[in-house]
Amino acid sequence: MREIIIGSDLKEMSRLAAAKFVEIAARSVRDNGRFTVALSGGLTPQSLYFLLAAEPCRSEHFWKQTLFFFGDERFVPPDSVQSNFRMANDSLLTPLGIPLAHIVRWETELGRPEEIAADYENRIAMLFTNERSEDGFKTFPRFDLILLGLGADGHTASLFPHSPALQETKRIAVTNRIEASNEYRFTLTFPVINNATNVMFLVSGDSKSETLRDVIEGKDRADDLPAQAVSLLAGKLFWIVDQAAAGLLTKI
Ligand code: 6PG
Repeated sequence: MREIIIGSDLKEMSRLAAAKFVEIAARSVRDNGRFTVALSGGLTPQSLYFLLAAEPCRSEHFWKQTLFFFGDERFVPPDSVQSNFRMANDSLLTPLGIPLAHIVRWETELGRPEEIAADYENRIAMLFTNERSEDGFKTFPRFDLILLGLGADGHTASLFPHSPALQETKRIAVTNRIEASNEYRFTLTFPVINNATNVMFLVSGDSKSETLRDVIEGKDRADDLPAQAVSLLAGKLFWIVDQAAAGLLTKI
């Protein structure tokens, strides 16, 4: 199931996203006794995080049963201005007073990229009791909600065009070598993203309009446009976008 929700601008789009976030969180706590959410990085979600940390959202009861994860992270310290954790911590987690025990971040200060990814994967697997196989996992975590952004090159999380992690089918969380920017990143894998109950893309600005059209309406070429590989097994996919990003869509 896929739904496209269009707001007039970033502010309106973020308001619509906050309403959907609250709806999903409240249902998850009601049905499962907890709400597991993987936050996105980048700039777009910051407006949503500010709204969630302000009234009326901040008074919602589900925050006490919410576990926060991160869909991806850069290979930087947690206090770096480039850190996805730092952006979410400053705009959402600290303002809400979320206890550290409810925040599961990539511990990028641990050492080598592979160690960081394996450590994060183990912590997720323990919280979702996933069944291992000899070289990975047989079952994958089912997040109640995964927030995603869309890069102008079609990447999502840190799943970049033609990067090794696009082919990963057995791991939960991996490091990914990004040749274009000569850096290591960290990302949840497509088996995890596609196993989620809900995925919410947040896309804003006319700089994304061609990519959004190509991803949603263009021919399948997921190696060039990795966001096209987000195809939920048994979940709901929401595209929450503003008018500027939606400007070239024809089938809405
Ligand atoms: C990151 C994000 C990345 C982001 C897109 C869109 O680590 O930067 O996870 O996937 O969502 O690049 O970023 P903007 O929202 O800043 O356009």
